[in-house]
Amino acid sequence: MNTHISAQQTHQKLPWTRAWVTGAGRGIGAAIAAELCHGGVDVYASARSEEALIQLASDLGQCRGSITPIPLDICDDTQIRALTESWQQTDSWPDLVILNAGTHDPFPARELTAQRSIQLLNTNLNGTLNCLEPVLKHYIDQDRGQIAIMASVAGYRGLPTAAAYGASKAALINLCEALRLDLAGSNVKLQVICPGFVRTPLTDKNTFSMPALMEPEDAAKEVIGGLQCECFEITFPKRFVYWLKLLRILPYSWYFKLVEKATRTGK
Ligand SMILES: NC(=O)c1ccc[n+]([C@@H]2O[C@H](COP(=O)([O-])OP(=O)(O)OC[C@H]3O[C@@H](n4cnc5c(N)ncnc54)[C@H](OP(=O)(O)O)[C@@H]3O)[C@@H](O)[C@H]2O)c1
Repeated sequence: MNTHISAQQTHQKLPWTRAWVTGAGRGIGAAIAAELCHGGVDVYASARSEEALIQLASDLGQCRGSITPIPLDICDDTQIRALTESWQQTDSWPDLVILNAGTHDPFPARELTAQRSIQLLNTNLNGTLNCLEPVLKHYIDQDRGQIAIMASVAGYRGLPTAAAYGASKAALINLCEALRLDLAGSNVKLQVICPGFVRTPLTDKNTFSMPALMEPEDAAKEVIGGLQCECFEITFPKRFVYWLKLLRILPYSWYFKLVEKATRTGK
């Protein structure tokens, strides 16, 4: 059986023409790019590794849409500007942008260094802002367009070994909340994505057992579904996130006790 044809048959035509997905070389971003492509969307796929993007394009050669590899570093704003200017010149702006690229570098308090933390924040927060600025400006001028920003449930409250990562994701959640309010009444749709644990090279480095771990393909389906709803936050898996949201409203004394107990490693 031709698996590409069966994949196409099971995918509904999606409501976007072109999408830009950052961090599409592997993990959640690659799975989102694949879902979009199967749904007939032409995807600009970005990451630093050109090889990974070419492989993705080749793997999805038969899908209903297309994958165009656009290797870039989100920390380099000149590369982002060149890309968005080329869309302006060729009238080929995406109508959906998913700013998913990010990194994680877990470390305990005694290993915290400014350099390490700033490097992580630079990718997750500053890199996302580099991509967001020209897109937001264009969408506001046009009064249309859809943006989704990849945060994490790790941004809800502080978690062990995730001081810098959690700070970067909390900043993104707050940024999205503020922008959502600023954009109220416009036709620019902005959403935040807060997944629980998804099995990818990023979480492969975790040494603890990850509750409710999802596969990237399932996470991508959740994202695509969420993008089509009127919700602000796209979050999954639902039951795990429900508990985390409850933890979010606990007073610090209870919160610290519970999380310490749940994450104790026996050291
Ligand atoms: N996995 C989870 O459980 C989980 C949960 C919640 C949120 N998230 C978030 O979801 C996003 C994707 O995570 P993932 O698990 O799929 O991670 P991953 O497997 O490590 O993939 C990250 C992707 O981002 C790209 N990337 C990293 N730094 C970049 C940069 N400076 N410029 C351009 N591209 C860059 C990587 O490609 P190159 O290295 O080639 O650039 C790769 O394609 C991240 O923002 C992460 O924080 C993940």
